[in-house]
Amino acid sequence: MIKDFRLKDMSIATKNQVSFCLFGKCPLQIFSMILFAGLFLSSCDYNRRTTGWDYAGDMINSQAYETYSPNPVFADGKTLQPPVEGTIPRGFMPYMYQKTDEDRALAAKILVNEIENTAANLERGKVAYGIYCMQCHGEKGDGQGALFVNKKYTYPPASLISEKMRANPEADIFHVITVGWGIMGEHGSMITPEDRWKIAMYIKQVLQK
Ligand code: HEC
Repeated sequence: MIKDFRLKDMSIATKNQVSFCLFGKCPLQIFSMILFAGLFLSSCDYNRRTTGWDYAGDMINSQAYETYSPNPVFADGKTLQPPVEGTIPRGFMPYMYQKTDEDRALAAKILVNEIENTAANLERGKVAYGIYCMQCHGEKGDGQGALFVNKKYTYPPASLISEKMRANPEADIFHVITVGWGIMGEHGSMITPEDRWKIAMYIKQVLQK
C-alpha cells in the first residue's frame, strides 16, 4: 500500500504516518520548520529607518511637502510661506516712534523705564554698554571711544555726559538706541528692550555721576 522506499527502514508503528513525512520528519516537525522559515523571512527588513511595524503607512510616511521644497500649490512656488503682513512675534512690542527729533522728544516724555533699579541690572547695563556703545562713545561716555580715537570711525560720537544729555531722561537714551539719531544707526534690532533700558540706567546713574 505504501510505496515510499524509506519504509524499509521504519518500524511497524510509524508505517501509518509515513505518507505525511518528509525527509524522515513528521507533521509537527514540518509545521514548526515552516513556521520558523516564515518567521525568519518576515523578520527581514528593507528599510533601517522604520521598526517594521507600519499600521497606517500614510500617517508615518507623510505625503506633505518638506519645509524647503518647491511647492506647486503656492504662486511663489515655495512651501515655507512668509508670515502674513503685519504679523509680530510673540512678546514683541512694535516701536511706534520714528527717527525724527519730534518723535525723540515725544518718546522721552512718554516712555517709562519699568526695569528695577538694582545692582545686578546696572551691572548688566555696564556689560551691554561695553559690547554695543563703548567702541564709539568711550568707556567714560565722553565720546572718545577706541574707534574714534584711532580714526577708524571719523565722525565724532556725541558725548553722553554732556549738559544736554544730563538733562535728558533715560527714555531719551532708550529711543536713540532703538532707532538711532543723526549719523548713529539704529541698535534696536540687536539689543533687547530690557538691555536698552539697562544701558540707559547705566549711563544715567553711573557714567553721568
Ligand atoms: C558706530 C559708532 C556708534 C555706536 C556703536 C553707538 N553710537 Fe551713539 N552716537 C554715535 C554718533 C556718531 C552720534 C552723533 C550722531 C550725530 O551727531 O548725528 C551718536 C549719538 C548718540 C546719542 C545722542 C547724543 C545727543 O547729544 O543727542 C545717544 C544718546 C547715543 N549716541 C547713545 C548710544 C548708545 C547708548 C549706544 C550703545 C547702545 C550707542 N550710542 C552706540 C555713534 C555711535
